[in-house]
Amino acid sequence: MYVVKSPLSDADLKTVAEALQGALVDLIDLSLVAKQIHWNVVGPRFRTVHLQLDEVVTSARGHSDTVAERASALGVPPDGRASTVAVGSGIAATAGGWIRDAEAVEALVDALGAVIRRMRERVAATTTADPVSQDILIGITGDLEKHRWMFQAENG
Ligand SMILES: [Fe+2]
Repeated sequence: MYVVKSPLSDADLKTVAEALQGALVDLIDLSLVAKQIHWNVVGPRFRTVHLQLDEVVTSARGHSDTVAERASALGVPPDGRASTVAVGSGIAATAGGWIRDAEAVEALVDALGAVIRRMRERVAATTTADPVSQDILIGITGDLEKHRWMFQAENG
């Protein structure tokens, strides 16, 4: 079904659709991982890490909505289903149960690092295919790198 017409060529649209869909999956999983650890973190730094994790959740949820709606605007139906996220996320599986504050911070550094690596690949892939989508991906990557800096500083 072809509902929304894209201004892009088919080839460019394919490239951009993959980048946006991949970003959507990673960002949804990032929001879930950050919430999971928000609930399970324990230790002397509980309060600061607990609150910092919710800042990531808010960012990731907002960014996932932005990339999903960018896909829709280009005529590509976004797929944010749990089963799709489970298969496609670039974030390593998180262990269940309580997690010490320092390990929680390390887990976020790793999760953000994995997403940032893939986001930078998407930025490179969309350079000529669609600079408008690329601009969105660049902005999101900058924000994720800010979060990663703050978690790295937590364990400095
Ligand atoms: Fe909460």
